Amino acid sequence: METKTVAVFIGDDASPEVMVPAVALIEDMQLGIEFIEPVIGKAAQAETGSFFPAEAKAQVDAADATFFGSTSGDSTQALFYLRWGKQTYANVRPCRYFAGFNSPLAKPEGIDFIVLRENLEDLYLGLEGDTDDLAALNLYSRHARANLAELGAGKYSIKVITEAGSERIIRYAFELARKRGGRRKVTLTSKYNMLAVADGLFLEIGKELAKEYSDIEFEHFIVDDFLCRMILDPHALDVVVMPNLYGDIMSDGAAGLIGGLGLAPSGCYGDDYAYFESAHGTAPDIAGQNIINPTATVLSAAMMLEYLGMGDAAQTLEAGVRSIYATGQCLTRDQGGASSTSDFYSALRSQVL
Ligand code: IPM
Ligand code: MG
Repeated sequence: METKTVAVFIGDDASPEVMVPAVALIEDMQLGIEFIEPVIGKAAQAETGSFFPAEAKAQVDAADATFFGSTSGDSTQALFYLRWGKQTYANVRPCRYFAGFNSPLAKPEGIDFIVLRENLEDLYLGLEGDTDDLAALNLYSRHARANLAELGAGKYSIKVITEAGSERIIRYAFELARKRGGRRKVTLTSKYNMLAVADGLFLEIGKELAKEYSDIEFEHFIVDDFLCRMILDPHALDVVVMPNLYGDIMSDGAAGLIGGLGLAPSGCYGDDYAYFESAHGTAPDIAGQNIINPTATVLSAAMMLEYLGMGDAAQTLEAGVRSIYATGQCLTRDQGGASSTSDFYSALRSQVL
């Protein structure tokens, strides 16, 4: 059996409570995966002077993939490296209903779509500063009919949508729709009416690419309208592609449709690397209570196994999760149960091993 190496970050706050047992379970599945745990954050800072030292980077680089627990504060530097350092531009966030999920919808059965979030540009470049610093550019707002300087002291953030960045994510959307073989549809969304230049470019590139993929249906909606449609008729969706910030927001919204953030996995793919993490954050409010829902983490692990060429093992993990929800036993509180994180994992282990 070929050995794969996975770099694992157990994360902060409540994250280790779902990550550590997930790693233990995968180890016990005996798939030939070797986990390495780079030292980052405060521990790394004390030893090396850096929150994300060269050693940790080298371990990420050497691994076949990274399994990432949610981070906060200083360790978020690891996330930045996984995104920009490894060029993981395609953030795939499935929204799939499993029988037994605590969805607020009357008819959630059959919801199965992907929020495909561009992961590297848009407002996430962190190009922010004092509006004063832009004075020399003499910027005029045709909407406000005023020069930037006249608006008074403030801060700015720059939104950047590039041609190459848009083309690769939208192409990824069409390829994914083909591969999924489901409704065979790509829905593109951005604010192309108000942000006609940057978000308009995203739409134009989508329209161009759609011509190359005549076997895939293509539609587009302005992002506010899209959100309403996503709530009213999520069953109509297949692959939905959008710039970074909208993807951040819509993926949390999509998780709400099926029953909450505890259920939402993600995988972030580049051309030669990928990392996997739940879409939720570190849940500091419930840290240390052994009540965090492991589903998002376990389904992210399943996406990772699939990526590593271990499709059967991925299916086994997913089937384990499905059976827990189908029987309704060992559900965590966010799903209307009274079980702990550890109870959930015990049940999952007995399904999977
Ligand atoms: C996510 C998270 C991150 C993001 C945070 C933790 C920086 O919300 O992965 O969705 O905004 O991308
Ligand atoms: Mg988010």
